[in-house]
Amino acid sequence: MKVLILYFSATENTAKMAKVIEGRFAEMGVEVTMSNMTSYTNRQEKIDLAPYDAVVFGAPVHARRAPKVVREWLRTLNGQGKKCSMFFTYGGFGVHPTHYSTREILEEQHFRVVSSAEFLGAHTFNLGGWRALGDRPNELDFKVAKDYVELTCKRFTGEDDRILGELEKTEYTEEQLDSAETSRFKVVTQLPTRGGEECSMCMACEELCPTPV
Ligand SMILES: Cc1cc2nc3c(=O)[nH]c(=O)nc-3n(C[C@H](O)[C@H](O)[C@H](O)COP(=O)(O)O)c2cc1C
Repeated sequence: MKVLILYFSATENTAKMAKVIEGRFAEMGVEVTMSNMTSYTNRQEKIDLAPYDAVVFGAPVHARRAPKVVREWLRTLNGQGKKCSMFFTYGGFGVHPTHYSTREILEEQHFRVVSSAEFLGAHTFNLGGWRALGDRPNELDFKVAKDYVELTCKRFTGEDDRILGELEKTEYTEEQLDSAETSRFKVVTQLPTRGGEECSMCMACEELCPTPV
């Protein structure tokens, strides 16, 4: 079986989990390829899914959904009916409805979502002085990630023919979530932010080049 892992990670939490997930797939005899989709350039490249049996998507939670740039990029893919799985990292302030909304996008793009997972990670805003979950992900998270791979592998091969069950629907409209995505950060003044219309505040710039502006 050939599996492609595609992940977005501005401050490395999702990348750490992706590496553990990749390692466990490989240990299980799966031919696994991994691509980091964090940069704009990589997200512009056309991805050929034909060689792969299944895809794993990894992303952080930004304002209760996958980051805007990730959602936009997912909408450019054609899943061709392939099985996929999702995993997310988040800073302990709430995940819902990330699983639900990302699954909706993936299904619209013709993927079949068989499983999903979430892991705690140091909050990105720690870069601006927060102190939320600085020690995560840790060894216990890695263990859960390995269990997640084992379950997902069985669903990819069909040994377990279940797919991801029903998820709790969100009471928020897309408009409300869009508004939370932009407005809530205006009050978080201690953040290092470079702003701009297209900025999704993923903080990759702060991580890579932490010069105050
Ligand atoms: C713009 C932005 C919004 C975020 N919103 C949430 C959120 O709604 N809930 C939460 O628990 N964590 C939130 N976080 C924290 C990240 O989900 C968490 O730190 C994640 O592990 C970062 O992943 P990365 O290191 O791969 O970029 C947010 C981070 C950023 C930058």
